[in-house]
Amino acid sequence: MIIGIGTDIIEVARIKKLLVEYGAHSLNKIWTDTEIDYCESFGKRKYEHYAARFAAKEAFSKAIGTGLSNSFAFKDVAVQNLASGNPIIVLNNIMKERWGNYTTHLSIAHTEANAIAYVVIEE
Ligand SMILES: CC(C)(COP(=O)(O)OP(=O)(O)OC[C@H]1O[C@@H](n2cnc3c(N)ncnc32)[C@H](O)[C@@H]1OP(=O)(O)O)[C@@H](O)C(=O)NCCC(=O)NCCS
Repeated sequence: MIIGIGTDIIEVARIKKLLVEYGAHSLNKIWTDTEIDYCESFGKRKYEHYAARFAAKEAFSKAIGTGLSNSFAFKDVAVQNLASGNPIIVLNNIMKERWGNYTTHLSIAHTEANAIAYVVIEE
């Protein structure tokens, strides 16, 4: 049974501005080291991948119904890619305790300008 869906679209320029201003590692409340390593591997196009991961976290927050409230732990909703490239959501800490028993599906797409993510949570 599907218990939640969420989607988000974000302008890559918004995330690029944040990253250029503060640097990825000083923003490590948002992205995990694994996510940062993955995004950095794309050189000039890395901002699209950062933006896509931000969108995935926000889409997840919609799927669980909280949105980006103060209690939403960005870093505890991490994106990892399987060998095929297929992205999955890996939950940690509070998010894992609350949502770890559900199956989460994620789809991502991005262009130079925008990134979009779609999340489905299934029981
Ligand atoms: C996967 C594919 C459809 C992505 O399309 P695209 O136009 O290049 O890029 P999009 O912006 O639409 O999507 C990119 C996202 O697709 C997702 N993706 C990649 N491979 C995927 C797969 N096998 N299944 C589901 N999603 C996948 C990733 O999340 C990626 O974003 P990320 O790298 O930031 O995580 C396309 O690259 C493709 O068909 N490739 C052929 C297979 C291939 O080359 N595989 C390489 C790994 S073996």
